[in-house]
Amino acid sequence: MLPFKNCVIFGATGNIGKAITLFINNQCNNLENLIFTGRTSKKVVELQNILNNKNSLEKLNETKITGITNDLTVNSQRMELRNRIEDHLNSKPPDLLIFPIGDHVSDKSGAEDLEKIISTNLTAPLSEAQYWIPLMKGGSVIFFSDSMISKPMRGYSAYYSAKSGIETAAKILAGESAPKVRVNVIAPGIMNLKPTAKPDATTRLGKQIPMGKIGGIKPITDALHYLLNEEYITGIVLKIDGGSHLP
Ligand SMILES: NC(=O)c1ccc[n+]([C@@H]2O[C@H](COP(=O)([O-])OP(=O)(O)OC[C@H]3O[C@@H](n4cnc5c(N)ncnc54)[C@H](OP(=O)(O)O)[C@@H]3O)[C@@H](O)[C@H]2O)c1
Repeated sequence: MLPFKNCVIFGATGNIGKAITLFINNQCNNLENLIFTGRTSKKVVELQNILNNKNSLEKLNETKITGITNDLTVNSQRMELRNRIEDHLNSKPPDLLIFPIGDHVSDKSGAEDLEKIISTNLTAPLSEAQYWIPLMKGGSVIFFSDSMISKPMRGYSAYYSAKSGIETAAKILAGESAPKVRVNVIAPGIMNLKPTAKPDATTRLGKQIPMGKIGGIKPITDALHYLLNEEYITGIVLKIDGGSHLP
């Protein structure tokens, strides 16, 4: 079990985000507040309902679940989000921040989209961490990068640059906030395919991965559990990719 009481998850409505939000809800016995954000209100409401149903059936303690819809690339919405989180936490500091927020488009998409990609993957999570970490009395921060930044795909320079940036930022934040708050990064490889992927995609892509298959969610929640539990680790990037980054 994990000891956290007040957790905020930014970008919880994606594939990985949803799984880790359910995992945190399940693993933290003393959780008082679980606040999560997503960009699309329908997905936020869906996740809120799943969590509420689970907790009404399974949880003995009262965890207050709050889903907030927000575009973190819009400055005014970010300020509003901070106020809302502060209201929900009722002056208590958060002790766990997780940032599975992310998005990617190709470099051909135009300057406006590229700025959005850099903001989603770097500026927004970094600004939120810089705002919240000084208020924390202890705990952990987890960012999400991409294991392939050491072997990046052509045509996605904005995405990979932003992910490289968040890894560097995490190391700086880890040094600045030790020993009070630990800051680490999870860098997934291919963990899931879009519903629109071709039927043979799982086998085809699996063959290109040294460990022979696409990851799935469990290696990510195992890594998260390890990083949150092990108090002697800060400032590291854990690649969870079946060896995809290898030469
Ligand atoms: N899945 C993989 O195979 C894989 C591989 C390498 C790295 N990663 C990284 O791992 C992390 C989690 O992956 P995932 O598969 O869960 O990603 P995902 O399915 O794309 O979800 C990303 C999350 O970020 C939110 N988001 C995107 N743009 C936003 C914005 N402008 N403002 C606020 N929220 C925004 C999305 O909200 P909506 O759902 O409402 O749009 C969603 O909650 C990401 O950082 C991703 O880059 C994933």
